[in-house]
Amino acid sequence: MSGITGVKQASLLTRLFRRKNLDKILEESQNQEHQLEKTLSAFDLVIFGVGAMIGAGIFVLTGAAAAGSATHLAAGPALTLSFVITGVVCSFCALCYSEFASMVPISGSAYTYAFSTMGEFIAWIIGWALVLEYGVGNMAVAVGWTGTVKEFLEHSFHIQIPAFLTGNTFETVHSLDAANPEILLKAIPFTIPFTESTEILLVQGAFNIPAFLVVMAITALLMFGVSESAKMATAMVFMKTGVILLFIAAAGFFIFGAPENMATVQTNWFADGWNTFAPNGFEGIVTGSSLIFFAYIGFDAVAAAAEETKNPSRDLPIGIIGSLIICTILYILVTSAITAIVPLDQINKEAAVTGAMYAMNIPFASEIISIGAIAGLTSVLLVLQMAGTRIFFAISRDGLLPNMLSKIHPKYKTPHICTIIVGLFVAIGSGLLPITLLAEMCNIGTLGAFLIVCIGVLLLRYTDPDRKRPFRAPLGITVPILGALGCLAVMFGIPTFSNGHLNVIGGLPSTTWVVTIGWFLLGMALYFGYGFWNSKMNQEDLDGDIDLA
Ligand code: ALA
Repeated sequence: MSGITGVKQASLLTRLFRRKNLDKILEESQNQEHQLEKTLSAFDLVIFGVGAMIGAGIFVLTGAAAAGSATHLAAGPALTLSFVITGVVCSFCALCYSEFASMVPISGSAYTYAFSTMGEFIAWIIGWALVLEYGVGNMAVAVGWTGTVKEFLEHSFHIQIPAFLTGNTFETVHSLDAANPEILLKAIPFTIPFTESTEILLVQGAFNIPAFLVVMAITALLMFGVSESAKMATAMVFMKTGVILLFIAAAGFFIFGAPENMATVQTNWFADGWNTFAPNGFEGIVTGSSLIFFAYIGFDAVAAAAEETKNPSRDLPIGIIGSLIICTILYILVTSAITAIVPLDQINKEAAVTGAMYAMNIPFASEIISIGAIAGLTSVLLVLQMAGTRIFFAISRDGLLPNMLSKIHPKYKTPHICTIIVGLFVAIGSGLLPITLLAEMCNIGTLGAFLIVCIGVLLLRYTDPDRKRPFRAPLGITVPILGALGCLAVMFGIPTFSNGHLNVIGGLPSTTWVVTIGWFLLGMALYFGYGFWNSKMNQEDLDGDIDLA
């Protein structure tokens, strides 16, 4: 009997929600032949998490989040509170990830958890969302990389790269701004109305060449060997954490070292009291949370190292939650420092930390910070690019994408075709699109994946209550519920009632939703046009290897 004939016997729903057998996957992971060496300690995992997290979110996006952009209200110095809010939401999600990762300590990620617990269709959606997280996220990091390099070259060497070589082809601008003749001059041949308040601007001949080139260089590195890439990434993690600490120390000396600097801080934060600290009140703070969620992306990558961890049930939660706590503290300190030193309207939206460092005018320190920031962004590019490639690889190995994508290069032993395709996709995207749109699309994808992980943990407490959970999120079902609600709030905003009307404050802008919905429709078309029919599960259905729950 052929696979397809056999599959026809199952109902559509059964086929959509066919699951990989959890016990079988766990058993396979114990197979000596395929067992990864268990070398990672809790400390290694914390470093890994910090390495994946500190990047464009803190080095670059803090600028746009604090000072505002075409699609964003400014949070002002109160952006520190946005970091606290998002940190709390992420900690609920981190506890859920820890429960899942300790229960299913196999390599892979939310995609694999979903396949074994919620079925193929949800797994595909998560996989597609993870491509947004890692692929589109990396586009944003690459654009941030350009901004930081540009700032460094301009300030330290007085080298100006022409704007059309570092700008993005499409810019999102405020409808009102788009009427401005100066802005219109940049556009060819006109702006495209996008949503009520936003227009898309086609900027004359602009393409972000440095972003394109750095992504292609990373792609080549990943193609020729993963171990070299991993060693480089580790060195860069220490460099960037070092420069973040150096920045915090320099800011501390600057602020507390001279009374006039203290007075500047007072003016930057409280010239007009609370109105200066939070120019758009709670709404600005919540809007800021949605954008800077990007800075927290990466703690989930710790879960992917489950199989290589010595004592996963103890070390994974320490790695995930520990790295999250460290980054939350660093982010709050860095944001406080930037907004204290630089007036809101002068914050550098392309390189916030580097810009603040130059504002302090401390000889050499600025150069060191710039180099560290560039290294830090490069390490995130490496980690995310590798993670994105692995997801594509895993999806293709399951038959949901063409088999060619999971081919391994005979000499370099890397998934070269997948690496090149992901590399080109990221490189071209980073040349075309603006950083805030990219980061927000990435946020929607990641929040979607986190949401499903929280719901998954909740469901499994009822559907598989007896499964061994070496780590269990505390307080019963409160954590997954709060995690899921938190993700929804960061994505869609918080509903409020005023004067008898329902208003939603914060959330990700409609521009981003329109583009992201397009992305998911494309995903659906691919799944129903290809993956559904070619899934390896079609064969396994017949062999009786899967749960048709
Ligand atoms: N959290 C990572 C960054 O900020 C993605 O670059």
